[in-house]
Amino acid sequence: RGRTLSFNRAPQSIDDSAAYAYESDGALLIENGLIKAAGTYTAVKAAAPEGVEEIDHRPHLIVPGLIDTHLHFPQMQVLASYAANLLEWLNTYTFPEECRFVETAHAERIAGHFFDEMARHGTTTATAYCSVHKASADAFFAESLRRGTCMVAGKVMMDRNAPQGLLDTPETSYDETRAVIANWHGKGRNHVAITPRFAITSTPEQMEVARSLLSEFPHLHVQTHLSENRDEIAYTCELFPEAQDYTDVYARYDLLGRKSLFGHCIHLSEREADAMSESGSVAVFCPTSNLFLGSGLFPLRVLTRREKPVRVSVATDIGGGTSYSMLKTLDEAYKILQLQGERLNPFETFYMMTRGNAEALSLTDRIGTLEPGTDADLTVLNMAATPPMALRAEVVNSLADELFLLQTMGDDRAVAETYVGGRPAKSPLDAIQAD
Ligand code: GUN
Ligand code: FE
Repeated sequence: RGRTLSFNRAPQSIDDSAAYAYESDGALLIENGLIKAAGTYTAVKAAAPEGVEEIDHRPHLIVPGLIDTHLHFPQMQVLASYAANLLEWLNTYTFPEECRFVETAHAERIAGHFFDEMARHGTTTATAYCSVHKASADAFFAESLRRGTCMVAGKVMMDRNAPQGLLDTPETSYDETRAVIANWHGKGRNHVAITPRFAITSTPEQMEVARSLLSEFPHLHVQTHLSENRDEIAYTCELFPEAQDYTDVYARYDLLGRKSLFGHCIHLSEREADAMSESGSVAVFCPTSNLFLGSGLFPLRVLTRREKPVRVSVATDIGGGTSYSMLKTLDEAYKILQLQGERLNPFETFYMMTRGNAEALSLTDRIGTLEPGTDADLTVLNMAATPPMALRAEVVNSLADELFLLQTMGDDRAVAETYVGGRPAKSPLDAIQAD
């Protein structure tokens, strides 16, 4: 029981109340990890079996579990590394750190921390890059299975322009990705993504392998990076001189599509944006990462308002990103739009973190809404979680203001509870930390 908010489509303006359902005294009936009923407390109570356990989250706000569509689980210890730009950051800090994931015990330990942080930050689904090592993907998916989370992840494919300890080959990337798919795809709520890191670290032979994998498994997600940084773009075009542009590198290997997620997409040309739009590919906005690495201002409105709109999602990009919190991420997204003379209203941002990201992943039948029949992944938010928030909350008198306060001042402290498959995922951690 609590106040509930969910979206049925993207809000067109701050007054577009038909885009969402809000109950000031709402409830969800949860059975076997699924939402059985949603609505007013009175209606849900009437539909509930006799003696059902009631959890009272009033006055907090219950939203669908937050979704993060791009991050790197082997970069938890890279976060906050002092670098001038993307390529320096990768070579100096990120690649050496990812080399440590050759040790299975290390991968398992970090996977444990990763799932703890997701729960603490109210994120119930993430689309993750593992490292090049197959065992890192095994550790990730095993932990996800244990926690009952819906995750999308892949063993990274990379066979050049990185340290020896971080390279596979076209053959091993094929065999190991196939093994990861066989072992983990569809096990529990796990989804395997085909994950060539980016064009710079894959030879044409390995890009061919990515194409073959997708033609064998056309229902899988694809994730990679695209057009993040000017030097990265120039180097990519040198490596693939036959391609028209960076996007065309991926298009030539048939990697564009409705389940393909391209991290960053900051500097796309009109032609590239058309290709993204025509293929239904998703451009992933990573606000804190784009600011931290100085990559640029993601042109959200330019991409979504053009005649051929590009689908977009939003993500932390840990560890180029600087916060696990989707609330903080959308706070920075708001500021990036401000610098472009654009607004991002709080209904849009809450839509993006929930249903919008679920749509980008083609997973709205399971997550991102409070629809009966979907998985009971929920985030409970407290707009008065800290003294400064509580002070501001005293004078908040609309839902829009509450959402904007949560997004602008909130972080993990604003997450009162996280439910994964109907089970509390955050409070058990709080209990451990209090010991
Ligand atoms: N491009 C290729 N690899 C990476 C990565 O790990 N992080 C970011 N932000 N960009 C990348
Ligand atoms: Fe990334």
